[in-house]
Amino acid sequence: MISYDYTGKVVLVTGGTKGLGRGIARAFRSAGAEVVVCARTPPDEPVDGAGVRFVRADVRDPEDLERLFDGLDRLDVVVNNAGGAPYAMVAGTSPRLHARVIELNLTAPLLVSQRAHPLLAATAGAVIMIGSTSGTRPSPGTSAYGAAKAGLHHLAACLAAEWAPEVRVNTVVVGLARTENAGEHYRDRIEVLSATIPAGRMAEPDDVGEVCLWLAGARYVTGAQVLVHGGGETPAWKWLASDEISR
Ligand SMILES: NC(=O)c1ccc[n+]([C@@H]2O[C@H](COP(=O)([O-])OP(=O)(O)OC[C@H]3O[C@@H](n4cnc5c(N)ncnc54)[C@H](OP(=O)(O)O)[C@@H]3O)[C@@H](O)[C@H]2O)c1
Repeated sequence: MISYDYTGKVVLVTGGTKGLGRGIARAFRSAGAEVVVCARTPPDEPVDGAGVRFVRADVRDPEDLERLFDGLDRLDVVVNNAGGAPYAMVAGTSPRLHARVIELNLTAPLLVSQRAHPLLAATAGAVIMIGSTSGTRPSPGTSAYGAAKAGLHHLAACLAAEWAPEVRVNTVVVGLARTENAGEHYRDRIEVLSATIPAGRMAEPDDVGEVCLWLAGARYVTGAQVLVHGGGETPAWKWLASDEISR
């Protein structure tokens, strides 16, 4: 693995207490950065000290964002990672659910980035959006989430153009990932689902952390999407046409 040096840099990872965010925070901390993580609830294991600071903040709440940014006097990298959605078909779900999903996955990263911009402009910093393959192909059961992620990918491209050359804005488009919540989402299907990925396994938080380390420092890369999906999802026709399945 390539080694990176983020000594003296300050990195904010939203939702950096669990799952992919925890892996991203760990990667920047290992590279010497001072890391601030925010979430609505404190992490299971205390992270304060040793270069990591936890701030309780709901990224959808403007007052929480004020408090979060009031405590920052320097910022080199923002990773808009907090996100997600429950699995629910659109029929029968409430307008409020869809509004909340879009708020978390699209509006909040916009507002966090906007609030971070002056600090990032002062350090020639970078924004990284954690996107999803759900925003690149139909996503039944998570339609509002998929649409919000598609919007997030486009938002990054717009901000990249608006804020160049001072601040770079890129997206990491993540495929199926194996976090501590993976069992909740995929139940006992992790092995089967892994077989649909050319790489033969789901992404680990450290895989995403490694890409963020590269992307945050890649000086001529802005407005880009980096696919971290292990080669994508093998199309259904490939399985259906195979002798093994049609027999
Ligand atoms: N896991 C996957 O398979 C996968 C695939 C593609 C993309 N992604 C994307 O990767 C990102 C991380 O997903 P994950 O699976 O690692 O999620 P996760 O395990 O559910 O963790 C989400 C993190 O975000 C925090 N969070 C949630 N809502 C928040 C809010 N309103 N304000 C502040 N923090 C909030 C959570 O802490 P609290 O609950 O305490 O607030 C937690 O720290 C998301 O953007 C997701 O869409 C995930």
